[in-house]
Amino acid sequence: MSSSLPLLRIERLGKSFFHQEKKEKILHNLNLTIKEGTIVGIIGRSGAGKSTLLRCLNGLEKPDEGHIFFDEEDLCQLAEEDLRSYRKKMGVVFQNYNLLQSKTVFDNIALPLKLSGYSLQDQKNRVEELAKLVGLHQKLSSYPHQLSGGQCQRVAIARALAIEAELLLCDEFTSALDSKTTLEILNLLKKLRQKLGLTIIFVTHDMKVIQHIADYVYVLDQGSLVEQGPTLPILMAAQHPVTQSLLHEFLKDELPDFITSKLHFNIQDRDDVVLKLTFNNQSATKPLISQLVQKWNLPMNILGGNLHHKDHEMFGHLMVCLKYDVDVMQEITNFLTDHHVQVKIMGYLQWQS
Ligand SMILES: Nc1ncnc2c1ncn2[C@@H]1O[C@H](COP(=O)(O)OP(=O)(O)OP(=O)(O)O)[C@@H](O)[C@H]1O
Ligand SMILES: [Mg+2]
Repeated sequence: MSSSLPLLRIERLGKSFFHQEKKEKILHNLNLTIKEGTIVGIIGRSGAGKSTLLRCLNGLEKPDEGHIFFDEEDLCQLAEEDLRSYRKKMGVVFQNYNLLQSKTVFDNIALPLKLSGYSLQDQKNRVEELAKLVGLHQKLSSYPHQLSGGQCQRVAIARALAIEAELLLCDEFTSALDSKTTLEILNLLKKLRQKLGLTIIFVTHDMKVIQHIADYVYVLDQGSLVEQGPTLPILMAAQHPVTQSLLHEFLKDELPDFITSKLHFNIQDRDDVVLKLTFNNQSATKPLISQLVQKWNLPMNILGGNLHHKDHEMFGHLMVCLKYDVDVMQEITNFLTDHHVQVKIMGYLQWQS
């Protein structure tokens, strides 16, 4: 599969619902292009329209404006019957797994195959192949209540992929799992992408999921796309306030409240300056802070900081407080900027008072 072709192209998508006899627009003029083999994360506050968008993609909701081109076919123009064959190319995975409790793992995975008229032998072959792929071949005769949450989600993924799905849509698929199990499921998805060339679109509130698997991020707010881009730049330097607020807790890039409340923005005599230093992979791997302290003989208080990584790229923030001196400030800003560190003045305070 080529990784440069768009598998999905969404143009001017709009969706409204009626609420107490009033039409409410839930999705506004959305434009997204998703290439084959990419893993795309959709984030946004509760009620932003993320699930509605996924439901439009797999035909569970009918958009009232725009187009959804899947393999260049406009799904919005297709009759229900033709839409059904496209839906088979899309697997869906939800937070609560949606497994049939009275059926074994084998029967749960086999269900879509059975509905599509596969012979018993073909069902058996495909279920065994899928169970191996998701690491469940020892559990085929178990029932969902005998499985852990992570195992249930593996069954759901296998079932979603049963009919050679090209696109996997996942809505909050890890929210019921602990962090270790979440990681196992994310690694499974990465493996499936690599082995099957699968394209994955997922919705999450967990920024660790974004960090771990998303190649590209879309941010929805009140039904509109407010920011999008490859994951690393979004994590490192989100531009929109909604994205920034969604990321704060994960990045831990805010000052503690008791310091923020002391900050002022008009410099006064004998003030200290509070700086936020943002490191990228180039700068995070160098001993720049020790060079800074040595070169300018600079006493510096560290107020907070964090280092993260996306794949093999490091990035992070450091909040520091130092005595303000206009000349030194210019010199160290030049030094840091030359070494790919972003410098932002957060404000001034009298640190000792
Ligand atoms: N079938 C429906 N009928 C009427 N309103 C709906 C329907 N489905 C969703 N909505 C409304 O659309 C808006 C977006 O809902 P949606 O479920 O897409 O949000 P979300 O971003 O997935 O939120 P969350 O993160 O809480 O899951 C909400 O205001 C919701 O009440
Ligand atoms: Mg939702």
